[in-house]
Amino acid sequence: MKFAKAIAVTAFLSVAASLPAASPLTVDIDFSKKGDKISPTMYGLFFEDINYAADGGLYAEKIKNRSFEYPQPFMGWNVSGNVELLDDGPFDRNPHYVRMKPSGHPHKHTALENEGFFGVAAEQGKDYRFSVWARTVDTPVKLRVEIADPATDGETHALAQAEITIDSRDWKKYTATLSPSATVEKGKLRLFLLHPEGEVDLEHISLMPADTWKGRENGLRADLAQKLADTHPGVFRFPGGCIVEGTDLATRYQWKNTVGPVENRPLNENRWHYTFPHRFYPDYYQSGGLGFFEFFELCEDMGAAPLPVVSVGLACQFQNNADSCHVAVDSLQPYIDDALDLIEFANGDTTTTWGAVRAAMGHPTPFGLRYIGVGNEQWGPEFVERLEPFVKAIRKAWPDILIVGSAGPSPSGKEFDYLWPEMTRLGADLVDEHFYRNEEWFLNSGTRYDSYSRKGPKVFAGEYACHGAGKKRNHFNAALLEAAFMTGLERNADVVEMATYAPLFAHVEGWQWRPDMIWFDNLRSVATASYHVQKLFSDNKGTRNAKLSINGAPAAGVDSPLFATAAIDDADGSFIVKAVNTGDSDMTLDLNVKWPKKAAKPSRVTVTTLHAEADDENTLDNPQLVAPHVTELTDVDPDNLSLTLPAKTLAVYRLTH
Ligand code: AHR
Repeated sequence: MKFAKAIAVTAFLSVAASLPAASPLTVDIDFSKKGDKISPTMYGLFFEDINYAADGGLYAEKIKNRSFEYPQPFMGWNVSGNVELLDDGPFDRNPHYVRMKPSGHPHKHTALENEGFFGVAAEQGKDYRFSVWARTVDTPVKLRVEIADPATDGETHALAQAEITIDSRDWKKYTATLSPSATVEKGKLRLFLLHPEGEVDLEHISLMPADTWKGRENGLRADLAQKLADTHPGVFRFPGGCIVEGTDLATRYQWKNTVGPVENRPLNENRWHYTFPHRFYPDYYQSGGLGFFEFFELCEDMGAAPLPVVSVGLACQFQNNADSCHVAVDSLQPYIDDALDLIEFANGDTTTTWGAVRAAMGHPTPFGLRYIGVGNEQWGPEFVERLEPFVKAIRKAWPDILIVGSAGPSPSGKEFDYLWPEMTRLGADLVDEHFYRNEEWFLNSGTRYDSYSRKGPKVFAGEYACHGAGKKRNHFNAALLEAAFMTGLERNADVVEMATYAPLFAHVEGWQWRPDMIWFDNLRSVATASYHVQKLFSDNKGTRNAKLSINGAPAAGVDSPLFATAAIDDADGSFIVKAVNTGDSDMTLDLNVKWPKKAAKPSRVTVTTLHAEADDENTLDNPQLVAPHVTELTDVDPDNLSLTLPAKTLAVYRLTH
């Protein structure tokens, strides 16, 4: 048996604690018939500004409160000497700015120091773009700007510095490049007024790495964006999550505030700064710097279908149950207009109002939006009666746009049972289901979608993660059970159109919610075991599923701990089997495969496995503890395939010619 090589390799991965293999399972796979189309959007990403995912995270800006618009205008800043706050600046939606004046004493410096997000990080060998909007009050004035390391010997060392002369009485943008002589994780940005007499006004003080992802000026942190792109997401949902709704209507996410010149995007509160008092972050706001234009651009760069979500006129239902907190149904028009205008912003030609805004931002060609979510995880008749007018208006103005409704915050129960028929009645194209559940739920949900109606809306499993009982960590066992569950998504590709793990990002010093897919500090980032599962499924989803069964029943953890699915990839003609052994014993899988009559049978197999101890967790200091392992096998006998699948292992077999 030529495939015996595979047995040797995979058995090598089994842990000492695993029990010997039980009798072989015969797995029937029919690759001769193409099954249901697997949507290119099947595996994607969910982005929300939680855990400092945007400001302090993916958005590369290093200066906190750069426009002095926080309710405490100097939050994030240390001020010395003579600094005044004024509010008639050049940007009407961010009117505040500071005036630096001489202190009146040669030894008392007038200076500003920004603490950044958990520090201002900078790396030796890289360049940083400092910029400031400024004007002199009278004579030209010199400023010194520094990236400083306050941690060395109790003294502050300037790792990079530059001098800028502000010589115009009109507001202008001034720039300097800073190249630090050493790496610092918790540095500071400092600005000193050098002129003994002159006064200067400063607004929108910014420090960005020059090497943002794709080199964009208002760009993204490269390591984090690359990790997203590496998953080859089919869909990208933004901007959340609960922040779509806001704690109240005033703080809901308003996309129109996040487009246009970045200096004039108004600040919004971030509800995650106070939602969990035991994880309180009073400096957590949304600058809007990573806004809807940047989200659409990111989608385009990654090849992901954009899925923006807009407010349905309901403030967060967990925190507001009185009708007075929500928009009255007959007053929804501005909210509906926001949805219609958003579609125009993405897809309208440049002669339209919002298409012209997109073009002015540098993207005259449409973004090709196909999906829009209306409401986050809303529930009850209050949601249904508000969604209805949105559906009518969107259908009328943009009949090709697919509308995503909601099944509420739970994967079953009263609200869920009420909402699915209502979503069907309203003609929603997809229904967003959320499930943060424990191991048992994931183990028992392998057949969840087998019995879903094929006539109604499609499923968007929009937020899910295995929250290990008593753990809530990114340990391997949780990721393994997510993988097991995901085989059921793909087996039901005729009803499940997309799925996104949540949340996506977390700063190790600023998280409110865990587990998360990617963790980071100011310099490093780490892919969790769940990240590897998502990437393996996304990279190996194929284009059509194929029937896979054990004794005629799906391999979905019912009669054995095996979860498996099979697919064909029309792009390169390969055959894919994804198998998850959730049990404690190694397994032998004897494959009984029907190959397509007309195509050549495969002779090579790429075996990728993910295996670790149940509690293993990747960390910034040990990022590779749980990592995929790849083996290439050649000259296999396609009619005699026997696989050893070690205990507690996800394996992806990709068979090619
Ligand atoms: O992902 C974290 C939160 O979980 C989301 O904001 C919300 O939609 C859900 O309750």
